[in-house]
Amino acid sequence: MIQPKSTIPNLLYGTAWKKERTDTLVEQAIQIGFRGIDTACQPKHYDEKRVGVALARLKEQGIDRSSLYLQTKFTPLSGQDPSSVPYDKKAVLSVQIEQSFNASLNNLHTDYLDALLLHSPLPTFELTLDAWHEMERLHNTGNVQRLGISNCYDLALFEKLFNTVSAKPTILQNRFYKDTHYDKPLRQFCIEQGVTYQSFWTLTANPHILSSTVMKSLADDVKKTPAQLFFRFLIQSGITPLTGTCSTSHMKQDLDTVNFQLSDKTMKTIRHLLI
Ligand SMILES: NC(=O)c1ccc[n+]([C@@H]2O[C@H](COP(=O)([O-])OP(=O)(O)OC[C@H]3O[C@@H](n4cnc5c(N)ncnc54)[C@H](OP(=O)(O)O)[C@@H]3O)[C@@H](O)[C@H]2O)c1
Repeated sequence: MIQPKSTIPNLLYGTAWKKERTDTLVEQAIQIGFRGIDTACQPKHYDEKRVGVALARLKEQGIDRSSLYLQTKFTPLSGQDPSSVPYDKKAVLSVQIEQSFNASLNNLHTDYLDALLLHSPLPTFELTLDAWHEMERLHNTGNVQRLGISNCYDLALFEKLFNTVSAKPTILQNRFYKDTHYDKPLRQFCIEQGVTYQSFWTLTANPHILSSTVMKSLADDVKKTPAQLFFRFLIQSGITPLTGTCSTSHMKQDLDTVNFQLSDKTMKTIRHLLI
């Protein structure tokens, strides 16, 4: 059945590295107010089945799947632990993607995804395109609302993909850090083309910004923490940050970032820290 297209929440709850705590933490995050979940069919880093366990419990509490945004990823073989590949590693790429997609639906107890991301580009453009064509086929069935890509730091590659395919990438999920100059040209392209840029490693990769005197003083001015200020800055810049916090107080603080507004002057000052 074709679902009405959901909107992407301003902040997503990330489910990586939580192992056996995944279900409890996802349940808490949704109870506290998150409505967007990021996961992956990659047992090495994500326990997608336990995300589904949390969703089943939440359904019993009256929080229906239709009120949630569920995003998962197809992870190519090179990103999988050889002992826990969630599809037939000998199958052709298109079959691997279809099997991974079906495993995700099964794990998450759903019949559609809000978004399916290619976890990283494949070694050649041709292979990346092969993968995309299978994702497009799934999108055309109506069971995947949006397609996206992650770990794509090359503007030329992203542009080429965008201009070649018919179901365009509408999400780019990247590490947000200074080594890539915070993806400035890529982010500009995303703005121009209506692509949602999602950031991860947002706090982990930027201790120099969070601990700077400028940031601390701006945070004090609005009575927030530097982490909250940084998330707010990103959201106000049109970026959708991911947070994988394991602390309920940080979950609340992270969600609170959608409730206040920064002045143009503060935005400009923080923008200057992204060098
Ligand atoms: N596409 C990819 O290749 C990829 C790669 C990595 C991650 N991801 C996704 O992104 C999600 C987030 O991962 P991440 O790498 O950004 O790191 P993270 O798992 O969100 O960890 C960030 C760190 O920030 C802390 N933190 C969170 N909120 C805070 C707050 N308000 N104040 C102070 N500290 C706070 C957390 O500590 P506490 O737990 O103590 O709060 C944690 O140590 C993952 O779960 C996954 O879904 C995707």
